[in-house]
Amino acid sequence: MEKFFASCPRGLEALLAEDLVAAGVSDLQPIPGGVHFTAEWPCCYAANLHSRIATRILWRIAHGRYAKEDDIYTLALAAPWPTLFSAGQTIRVDVTAIKSPLKSLEFITLRIKDAICDRFRADAGKRPSVDTREPEVRVHGFITADECTLYIDTSGAPLYQRGLRQKTVDAPLKENVAAGILRLSGWQPGTPLLDPMCGSGTFLLEAAQTALNIAPGAGRDFGFQRLKNFRLDVWKDLLDSAMDAEKPAGNAQIYGSDIAPVAVRAALANLDRAGLLPAVTLCTGDVLEIEAPANPGPNPGIMIANPPYGERLSELDELATLYPLLGSALKRNFAGWNCYLLTADLRLPKLMRLTPTKKTPLYNGAIECRLFEFKMVAGSNRR
Ligand SMILES: C[S@@+](CC[C@H](N)C(=O)[O-])C[C@H]1O[C@@H](n2cnc3c(N)ncnc32)[C@H](O)[C@@H]1O
Repeated sequence: MEKFFASCPRGLEALLAEDLVAAGVSDLQPIPGGVHFTAEWPCCYAANLHSRIATRILWRIAHGRYAKEDDIYTLALAAPWPTLFSAGQTIRVDVTAIKSPLKSLEFITLRIKDAICDRFRADAGKRPSVDTREPEVRVHGFITADECTLYIDTSGAPLYQRGLRQKTVDAPLKENVAAGILRLSGWQPGTPLLDPMCGSGTFLLEAAQTALNIAPGAGRDFGFQRLKNFRLDVWKDLLDSAMDAEKPAGNAQIYGSDIAPVAVRAALANLDRAGLLPAVTLCTGDVLEIEAPANPGPNPGIMIANPPYGERLSELDELATLYPLLGSALKRNFAGWNCYLLTADLRLPKLMRLTPTKKTPLYNGAIECRLFEFKMVAGSNRR
């Protein structure tokens, strides 16, 4: 058994725990920002391949108390790095600290890198070189007030980089935040889904992949593939099963629109490149005017959107005009739909003159947001 830590956007820890259980993990402990878990390697591979929520999955290599920088150097020097990867590979070290009394994060980063290289020199006569842009092996140090944990990143590039989105416009969402919102909405493939402010199409890409049962990691590579203990046979079996489980597009009922033609073009290019265009209907349109797609299904249609939220004062004024109109448009055209709006602008429900049925705090990167749920039962919701 190995110890791992999977990180995720804050607010999505319970969903990440579900993904880990689905990957075969039984021993796990959620904390703010992620989940600690103990598992065999195949579970780690499966979680990297299938989790839409995880940001990274880190493999714990060393853990100990420290009082000064030298203690961290000694901890790193004692870890058996040359048995984990080879001196010919490039590395990058990153350090995150919470409440650490040590003054310089750069200096700690340097000391960990020195210790890894010194250990390689002592054991193998050569040392890895540093590549901060495209390292083959990423090492993470996590420092609290008096403890240091060292990890190797089994994901490599962060897991929200699915390799699908080439073009972005205006404030794109992280893919794992979008996937988390889809899950929080309770949307299931087969139920109509609309993002009327789709930008570069992040929700649409996540939904279409989900409808087609395509594993989010099927088209990329991972850090664990570059480690000495990598089991190609185990990985190939997992990948083959994932490919076998993919489904044809059918009538996916996933719809996207945006007022900006450039955004619709970006979403179209991204979906097309990912082979997901057959699952999605796209058009240009103003959310204030579009009609709801017909919903022949038994469940309410789901609208998910991430409206613009201004940072400048002039934008805030514009939004104060847009939101009341948006509230009226939802009442007029989306009766019977469940609508989910992610925003950092907490004035939104009041300005829309709608009472949210639920508010979920979520982080999009460092920005604190709310996911507001509005169940558009005809005639209700009025403040
Ligand atoms: C924050 S961005 C959405 C980003 C998107 N979720 C993504 O990941 O790329 C907001 C989008 O709302 C669109 N928008 C603004 N006003 C609109 C309106 N009245 N009708 C439709 N779309 C609108 C903008 O063009 C922009 O693409």
